[in-house]
Amino acid sequence: MALWDVYYTVTNLDDAIRLLREHKEKARIVAGGTDLLIEMQNKVRTPSVLIDVTRVGGLDEIRMGLDGLIHIGPMVTHAQAAASPLLQEQALPLAQACWWVGAPALRNRGTIMGNLVTASPANDTITALRALRASLILRSERGDRIMPLSDFYTGVRRTVLEPDEMVVDLTFAPLNENQRGVYLKLGLRRVLAIAVTNVAIVLTFDENRNITGARIALGSVAPTIIRASEAEAALKGTPLSAGSIAEAANRAAQAARPIDDVRGSAWFRTEEVRALVQRGLEAIQMDAPRLGLPEPDAMVRLGGKAKRLPKLCGPTIAHHADGDEPIQCVVNGENVSVQGANGKTLLRMLREDLGLTGSKPGCEEGECGACTIWLDGMATLACLTPAPRAHGARITTIEGLSKDGELHPVQEAFIKEDAVQCGYCTPGFVMSAAKLLEEIPHPTQEQIKTALSGNLCRCTGYYKIIRAVEAAAMAGSKN
Ligand SMILES: Cc1cc2nc3c(=O)[nH]c(=O)nc-3n(C[C@H](O)[C@H](O)[C@H](O)COP(=O)(O)OP(=O)(O)OC[C@H]3O[C@@H](n4cnc5c(N)ncnc54)[C@H](O)[C@@H]3O)c2cc1C
Ligand code: FES
Ligand code: FES
Repeated sequence: MALWDVYYTVTNLDDAIRLLREHKEKARIVAGGTDLLIEMQNKVRTPSVLIDVTRVGGLDEIRMGLDGLIHIGPMVTHAQAAASPLLQEQALPLAQACWWVGAPALRNRGTIMGNLVTASPANDTITALRALRASLILRSERGDRIMPLSDFYTGVRRTVLEPDEMVVDLTFAPLNENQRGVYLKLGLRRVLAIAVTNVAIVLTFDENRNITGARIALGSVAPTIIRASEAEAALKGTPLSAGSIAEAANRAAQAARPIDDVRGSAWFRTEEVRALVQRGLEAIQMDAPRLGLPEPDAMVRLGGKAKRLPKLCGPTIAHHADGDEPIQCVVNGENVSVQGANGKTLLRMLREDLGLTGSKPGCEEGECGACTIWLDGMATLACLTPAPRAHGARITTIEGLSKDGELHPVQEAFIKEDAVQCGYCTPGFVMSAAKLLEEIPHPTQEQIKTALSGNLCRCTGYYKIIRAVEAAAMAGSKN
């Protein structure tokens, strides 16, 4: 069954705003689709009109504006933000929050704006941006509204965004030389884990290292992200010391109003707030707030050489689920034109309409990586990508990895190292690993683990898989 009735790919913002006015509650903007597709599959949201803004030029900019504020466009992905030198230097908590979202292929598609609008109190970027005191610009044909992020949320997954509005800009002041910030998250595992609790802290110091301003935001402990104002007050006028840190951590724990759920009990979450605030303040005290965030050059992105999202020119394109407008794209080097896939995911189009069954449906929720393909050179989860998003794009699947009948070195290494058992997960692992070696020919073991962190295997185990990637890298250096 089709997931939507019509999928518009707009090439300018005005068209997106006009379509929102025309279709109102029936329409949703789609950016990365990593939340929306799951919500639609689970019938949490059932828009019949999707408005894809991913091909509008210039929406993926992170820039310092003439107004002295950092501006983040609606198509800035988590991968881009985490690796941005500007954000790492002047908005560290946001770069850290983006780095902790999901796993590489998910970060390549998921956007900060999508994360903010989904409005889950566990979402990573909201907490960081509350501590950075961010504002949004909401645009409709009625005009622009400037909305402080603190006023944007009205409850769990609820915001003040009107059906005809789109978020077109996110702004905040960069941290200056007297300020330090940090973001920490506790999940049930290191990657692909929604936060049990998260914390962002921004402190301002005077020349004597006394704190003149403190902002502490807490996530996943109330219906919306909250500020721990008592803890903030406790820090003002003092330097960071063991005593002031402990007092602030205790007060932050008192501010939390968590619930029991599958990820943790209220008691556990409260204790974690105390621990995370303490760790964050200590990291600032020791002037070591990066907490393992890789430098931009060393960051595994699985984004290949793609620096910007390719834009489309010309008029808005409509793909009707029951229409015969073709999805035209390049798959494994060949031009293809597909009819009948307008209302499904890219994974289903590849398998059902093009017979490319190498990409596997594992979870179809972004959790297992079995469907990993390359979309315009970036590792991408095909199960969370709408098929019409492929219009005008280049796709590589596992079937396209071998050249002139020769297996890719990663495929060779998987065979030699016995890194395959049932093989169901293998195409996804190979696509992630091959992209890693294209990006970083001689990765460290940590980088290999990061690259494969979104791929799950339930039979072989991971040692042989990691060994195979190391062997492929070695083979590459000999050639
Ligand atoms: C396996 C998995 C793991 C995940 N792990 C994490 C995690 O660790 N931490 C975390 O915080 N999140 C996580 N997420 C959630 C998700 O990836 C993010 O929320 C993502 O940032 C959403 O961005 P998107 O571009 O994919 O949004 P979309 O799915 O395209 O859109 C999400 C919502 O925002 C709306 N929207 C998007 N852009 C705009 C705009 N400019 N104006 C108005 N409305 C807009 C859409 O209409 C939709 O309602 C995970 C998701 C999955 C599937
Ligand atoms: S991540 Fe796509 S099928 Fe599991
Ligand atoms: S080899 Fe069977 S799931 Fe990985």
